Amino acid sequence: MQEVRLFSPASVANVSCGFDVLGFCLEPIGDEMVIRKVSKPGIHITKIEGQNLPLETKKNVAGVAGLALLEAQNYSGGFEIEIYKGIKAGSGIGSSAASSAGAVFGINHLLGSPYSAKELIPFAMKGEELASGAAHADNVSPVLLGGFTLVRCGKKPDVIALPSPSELYAAVIHPKIELKTSDSRSVLKQKILLEKAIQQWGNLAALVSGLYTEDYDLIGRALIDVIVEPSRSALIPGFNALKKAANEAGALGSGISGSGPSVFALCKGKDIAEKATHAMAKALGEYAIEFDTYCSKINTQGIKILSEK
Ligand code: HSE
Repeated sequence: MQEVRLFSPASVANVSCGFDVLGFCLEPIGDEMVIRKVSKPGIHITKIEGQNLPLETKKNVAGVAGLALLEAQNYSGGFEIEIYKGIKAGSGIGSSAASSAGAVFGINHLLGSPYSAKELIPFAMKGEELASGAAHADNVSPVLLGGFTLVRCGKKPDVIALPSPSELYAAVIHPKIELKTSDSRSVLKQKILLEKAIQQWGNLAALVSGLYTEDYDLIGRALIDVIVEPSRSALIPGFNALKKAANEAGALGSGISGSGPSVFALCKGKDIAEKATHAMAKALGEYAIEFDTYCSKINTQGIKILSEK
């Protein structure tokens, strides 16, 4: 096998109470990538469509992630990568993660899968490090594993695949302003009150429990972020109006998707998710900002191979 074409999906990181540790994968939007074995050593980004991003390997998230994998394998050949961006950079729905994870998934596939999907995560994180200055795994993990994932940080991190309740849907709105993750991280407080930490870890544990037990009400009560959202929400035009609209439409809860500006709401059932999507679109309509919306089932597969030859 010489070439693979794949779809690498968008994702929602943090999920309110799980800053840098929780994420889930979306279905309807993502990047397409073509990855091809070549004899010239290294990673060669030969085409990027849909976004103005660097072709230079060491400045491109797919390039650095792919290089990390080749170095670990001591591989003497190379790969060409074409990227057809469906996800806008700085949108908050895992643009860099889709390209980083897609690159290592495709290369690993063409090498005969020396690594499991979980083992690919550290390579994909190299792309996240380049994009944001922090090697977090909360977007790349759900893209590589599908569904919801939880990262236990540490010297030897654990990435845990969590269940996705069958009726859980996401409504997402992307206000078309670019918010760089590095900028969105720079507004965060470095110290937090114990009282806030207690609320946050209770919420995170409750959310994880709600996913296992399909307790939608508990999921809704847990979708509260008392640490990061208060600092970041000012960067998102109409944020409070978007949350209000989603909640009034019947969403279980809502929050900032990743580092923003996208806002997500989790909902029980497709009908409510569609209502929440429309309600958020109507609310943002008041702000004269262009936007895209997505209504998505939780994508439990993650990256999908479209064709190979
Ligand atoms: N956890 C990251 C953040 C996700 O919120 O900064 C964005 O890449």
